Amino acid sequence: MRIDILTLFPDMFSGPFDESIIKRAIENKLVEIVFHNLRDHGLGRHKTVDDYPHGGGAGMVLMPDPLFAAVEAIKGSDEFPVILLTPQGRLFNQKVAQELATHPRFLLICGHYEGVDERVREHLATDEISIGDYVLTGGELAAMVVVDAVARQIPGVLGSAESSKDDSHSSGFLEYPQYTRPRMFRGWEVPEVLLSGNHAGIARWRREQSVLRTLARRPDLLEKADLTPEERQIVEKKPI
Ligand code: 6GU
Repeated sequence: MRIDILTLFPDMFSGPFDESIIKRAIENKLVEIVFHNLRDHGLGRHKTVDDYPHGGGAGMVLMPDPLFAAVEAIKGSDEFPVILLTPQGRLFNQKVAQELATHPRFLLICGHYEGVDERVREHLATDEISIGDYVLTGGELAAMVVVDAVARQIPGVLGSAESSKDDSHSSGFLEYPQYTRPRMFRGWEVPEVLLSGNHAGIARWRREQSVLRTLARRPDLLEKADLTPEERQIVEKKPI
């Protein structure tokens, strides 16, 4: 997969992709991340990319010209999703991450300042994504979140030891509690069932914990979840 990122601040990205799982994915050529500096398409001697809003108001707006020029230069004759990162976009979640992971290539545009010219939304972007209901100073941190969540969906990016199948959200439920050694830590014990070697019992306990935890913390997720009759029953009881 190739992810292009159009940004005014490419230096912000050094760090997050240079460590751990994403670094390994890039080294193994499972993901290629290509940065493009919007400033390169700025207008005039000062490489201007923003201007005052027509009609007045606070802040600056990214001009359409540099954005269209940059995206057209990146795309050439290729077709792929052009995603504008903006607090006005559709909410990013695990399902959107899985959907993006099916594309061999897409472009993320990091919005900035008070916003981008509306013609970019209407005629250049094919999608708009927000990572949550709060406002960031720019789309760069959102791009990092999207790249990370999408990259770990690509087959081979996670080792078998890091499998994503039990992740919180991948099943529509939050993940069950995890324990490692020691069995007793400061008087707090690992639940007996996990030490039992009873695989069916462990699977049942985990599923139950997962449902109870989701019920206690994110009941909104259960409205959309597929529950077995037994799980329905757990949900009807009070959470721990
Ligand atoms: Cl994608 N951009 C900005 N600037 N703020 C955000 C966001 C994106 N998602 C949530 N807040």
